[in-house]
Amino acid sequence: MADNITLSLRDVRSGYAALDIINGVSLDIPQGEFVALMGPNGAGKSTLLKTIFGMTTFKGGEINWQGRQIGGLATRAVLGSGISYVPQGRCNFPLMTVQENLEMAAYTIRDPQVKADRDYIYELFPSLLKRRATLAGNMSGGEQQLLEVAMAVLQRPKMLLVDEPSVGLSPAAVGIVFDELLRLRDTGLTILLVEQNTRKAMEVADRAVILRLGEVIWDGKPADITHDELGELFLTGKMRAELAHNEKLSQ
Ligand SMILES: Nc1ncnc2c1ncn2[C@@H]1O[C@H](COP(=O)(O)OP(=O)(O)OP(=O)(O)O)[C@@H](O)[C@H]1O
Ligand SMILES: [Mg+2]
Repeated sequence: MADNITLSLRDVRSGYAALDIINGVSLDIPQGEFVALMGPNGAGKSTLLKTIFGMTTFKGGEINWQGRQIGGLATRAVLGSGISYVPQGRCNFPLMTVQENLEMAAYTIRDPQVKADRDYIYELFPSLLKRRATLAGNMSGGEQQLLEVAMAVLQRPKMLLVDEPSVGLSPAAVGIVFDELLRLRDTGLTILLVEQNTRKAMEVADRAVILRLGEVIWDGKPADITHDELGELFLTGKMRAELAHNEKLSQ
């Protein structure tokens, strides 16, 4: 294993109670890398993030985070170890202001020094400062997404797990959110991003990982995969079966 690997998954298996979803995923992520996790709907992308964050039934394998096994640990322990998570879909408190949302996010922080120093988030996200008295639910989707990323960053993580931040956003808002993620990466944060906007993800990520049926089917640099190959990898088993069937019929 290279020296700078910060998160290493070995043959990880997980799911929901008796249901198996992640079927032996291995992945090494170096410190400071921006990794895009992609794949068809239902591939298990969200489940993999949730597995790292201690929110699924852990069934085996190893998750080594900075030299420590965190596979199967409770969410609170994973969060405390320096990993933050931005779930898929809206996850703020819409009837609370931006400031109150940040206070809610700070609620779980135990370190008194970090808790006292919340204003740094406004330095990192100046657009939120202007909106600090606005109800989160009254902001645009892009602003809400930034708030949700900020709520995760407030924990001062070393790694950020972000699930589909671009859903429902205008192209301009997507650009702003991704620029923000790149800026965070440039501060040294390691990022594992689930993204359905493959074009955008390939543009910004240092590395692309493609998941299908709970397994990694491609792992490499975005430049090493063509658009056609990417499309092919995204076909689900059902689509493949249909294509093969149609080919047979046309022969
Ligand atoms: N809480 C849950 N309980 C049981 N099964 C679940 C649960 N959440 C997800 N699943 C199932 O796990 C499988 C993978 O779902 P997951 O949400 O990880 O996929 P995904 O790759 O993130 O898809 P999408 O692109 O649609 O977000 C699906 O078959 C889904 O129905
Ligand atoms: Mg998902």
